[in-house]
Amino acid sequence: MSMENATTRRHCVLCVVGARPNFMKIMPLMRAFAARAPNVIVKLVHTGQHYDVEMNASFFGQLGIPAPDVSLEVGSGSHAVQTAEIMKRFELVVDDHAPDAVLVVGDVNSTIACSLVAAKKGVRVIHVEAGLRSRDRSMPEEINRILTDQLSDRLYITEDEAFDNLLAEGIASERIVHAGNVMIDTLLACRNNAVPAVDTLRRVLGNAAEGWVEHGYGVLTLHRPSNVDEPESLRQLLTAIARMSERLPIVFPMHPRTRARIDEFGLGGMFEQSRVAVLGPQGYLEMLGLLDGARLVLTDSGGLQEESTAIGLPCLTLRENTERPVTIREGTNSLVGTDAAAIEAAFGDALSRGRCVERRPRNWDGHAAERIVDDLVAWLER
Ligand code: UD1
Repeated sequence: MSMENATTRRHCVLCVVGARPNFMKIMPLMRAFAARAPNVIVKLVHTGQHYDVEMNASFFGQLGIPAPDVSLEVGSGSHAVQTAEIMKRFELVVDDHAPDAVLVVGDVNSTIACSLVAAKKGVRVIHVEAGLRSRDRSMPEEINRILTDQLSDRLYITEDEAFDNLLAEGIASERIVHAGNVMIDTLLACRNNAVPAVDTLRRVLGNAAEGWVEHGYGVLTLHRPSNVDEPESLRQLLTAIARMSERLPIVFPMHPRTRARIDEFGLGGMFEQSRVAVLGPQGYLEMLGLLDGARLVLTDSGGLQEESTAIGLPCLTLRENTERPVTIREGTNSLVGTDAAAIEAAFGDALSRGRCVERRPRNWDGHAAERIVDDLVAWLER
């Protein structure tokens, strides 16, 4: 190889997305690659794990993510079917592109499926949002996190605990970089463009929307299998929500999994006499607007624990554990579990305290993706 060829060799990185929480993580990375790494060929691969317009296409439009270079269109299935289908199709993409590295984000089935394919083919794996641990192996995401990190060559973490978690699992410290939180990059970049809550609420509430915004409302999201897949726990949770809505109206953008379970268990009438407004899944900018205008959020999502911390919104996490302890230690999050009485007590406390100040754990400053891309380019060239 001539000297010129040696210095101008372009690395190829395949970036993988599949499900809704991946889209806001990849957005700032795509931007940072375009702005800072002209010598890296970046291809975006979408597995199609999430495919509905409101779970998928609306995010690409709102966030200005380039159209995927490759779409695998796997769709839904059991964990084994979905993971296997992604692996089969992704292997052909790796063969086609012969990338220098595969970059995965988060903890969804697409994350582990593509990491496994890459690692077995001797292609380096880069994991963004590595090292988070709930220590609850009944969560599919926990299995995905542990295995993806074991397969990864470069691990970008969002909080200090992740470093200790990875060391405890035998991962060498030289592979780990505390880069910050790419999801907060996206939040800070998009916050000024959020759709005002009143516009979103008017579509379901008509003229009553103004009153909700003026007097305050809470936001609820629920989709963890542990909360929605078992009829009795789901019924108890929804009963508690209906009761709490007597004190503060609640906006509930419903995940398709949750809607399917509510229909299957015949729980569709639970909110009839209550002040719960059920919406379909919301776009990113609509959700940001709803959160900005809310008095609190009740959720079992991972991302919302972080986003609420950054915007100073009290967050009640309806789970027994969290993989994001920094949101409790330095943020606005409280782990309240799934017992109805405990949730209602925490709800009352949070209402009496009101909004919190915005918190920024280390490197949650809007520049995480830039740090990742700079480090990655240097690492690829090593
Ligand atoms: C997945 C992720 C979870 C993430 C969540 C955010 C895994 C293991 N879980 O969970 O970490 O927090 O996405 O949404 O990867 N469905 C639709 N339309 C869609 C997508 C899904 O109707 O566009 C329905 C299907 O019936 C599907 C169900 O929702 O069976 C669940 O989807 P799936 O991707 O399997 O898992 P999520 O519960 O969304």
